[in-house]
Amino acid sequence: MRLAVVGCGYVGLVTGSCLAEAGHEVIATDVDSARIGMLNVGRLPIYEPGLDRVMESASAAGRLRFTSDCAEAARVADAIFICVGTPPLDSGEADLSAIDNVARQIASAARSAKLVIEKSTVPAQTGEQLRHALQIYGRSNGAAFRVASNPEFLREGTAVGDFFHPDRIVVGVEDPESERQLREIYQPFLEGRFHCPVHEPKCPPAPGPVFLVTTIASAELIKHASNSFLGLKISYANVIADLCERLGGNVEEVTRAMGLDPRIGPHFLNAGLGFGGFCLPKDIQAFIRLAGKHGVDFGLLKEVEAVNKHRIEQFVEKVRRALWVVKEKTVGVLGLAFKPNTDDIRFAPAIDVVRRLIAEGARLRVSDPVAIERARSVLKGVEFVEDAYHVARGADALLLLTEWREYRELDWKRIHREMGRPLLLDGRNILAPAKMKELGFEYHSFGRPELSANPVLVSS
Ligand code: UGA
Repeated sequence: MRLAVVGCGYVGLVTGSCLAEAGHEVIATDVDSARIGMLNVGRLPIYEPGLDRVMESASAAGRLRFTSDCAEAARVADAIFICVGTPPLDSGEADLSAIDNVARQIASAARSAKLVIEKSTVPAQTGEQLRHALQIYGRSNGAAFRVASNPEFLREGTAVGDFFHPDRIVVGVEDPESERQLREIYQPFLEGRFHCPVHEPKCPPAPGPVFLVTTIASAELIKHASNSFLGLKISYANVIADLCERLGGNVEEVTRAMGLDPRIGPHFLNAGLGFGGFCLPKDIQAFIRLAGKHGVDFGLLKEVEAVNKHRIEQFVEKVRRALWVVKEKTVGVLGLAFKPNTDDIRFAPAIDVVRRLIAEGARLRVSDPVAIERARSVLKGVEFVEDAYHVARGADALLLLTEWREYRELDWKRIHREMGRPLLLDGRNILAPAKMKELGFEYHSFGRPELSANPVLVSS
């Protein structure tokens, strides 16, 4: 099918590239012509593992192309995915101006029937507004528009794999023809008819995705409800971690046992610095505002948000307690991205921690496997260093703020030798307290018993 993808951010690029790789003809468009220029010479504006290969393969097969002309994309496609950003306004509500803008462009450019699909995360009832805008602005050119909602559940860092192997494909529709078209679009994924770019030579056996047909309002709600629930699980685990600290429990033991109950499940119960990124925090805020606007007080989610925000202060307080005086101390930071395998630092807890410590007069030396370039534009007055061992050199404290695999695998004995004071604060609970103690670190994390270090054990 001929498809258009409007918005070449992370969701649009993954969606467009994967749909093209699976056999559709895709034209992707963005208002940012510099971005389109980059894409046209095969350069990706974001870091997403595996996306470069999919994009290259789909482009080489002649099924994926990029243009800054949204009208052209809208004219040639049978179905158009809207993947533009919906950033938070000061009120916490989602800013839908990009969606409105795209709707007007599609409406005036289209000359034949189109299925217009919301892929961006939007509040419930956006579908209705979208249909209305398409009808009004397209009234003079005779094109009929159908609207659908098809929320994405892609995780940054594993988005390509998630696209090819989704648990569920949710389509919110209001007529059988839209459902038929969306089934056709996703047929390769439903039937496993694609060359998987993630698993070589063969994908592990797994049940295929559930294709779920709902109303548009339900589909819109499913996205917000899912992301908010993930945030709720994390904040819950974090409060349990606080309790463990007070009562002498171990949050890992508690959440592991909880997760063995299939009704709870093991995922998203890792305690630490809390959730960040451009999805969970803003979606929770938007969901609270949406509920409030419609007379439902979502106090539960307000608490999830409050618990999450408070993680930063709790962590900084741990740093203060351990360092005694923060001012003029050299503090090394490992990890800036909001999570591993991405260079995304938007709403990253690590960035908040660094800013707080700068404000308290510490000397910050920071690092990340891929996010340094992005961080340069938002963090001033810090030293950026590529090498993790260099970060530790002479430092009074080392903070682990993103759960990168690379950091688990560091030579911690060497790090210990490099540091001025072997003080390690693990904001992501990724290292084993007993091992760190054995290596001679003074080690602090969240919700796990504090073991005092024995520096005599490590001398060289
Ligand atoms: C999230 C959802 O997981 C996706 O399903 C959704 O499609 C996406 O938002 C979106 O709306 O586009 P993402 O923002 O990529 O995906 O990040 P997550 O993997 O959800 O992680 C969010 C944050 O939670 C990270 O900062 C991570 O470090 C933190 N986290 C995660 C924890 O603190 N504890 C955990 O147990 C899990």
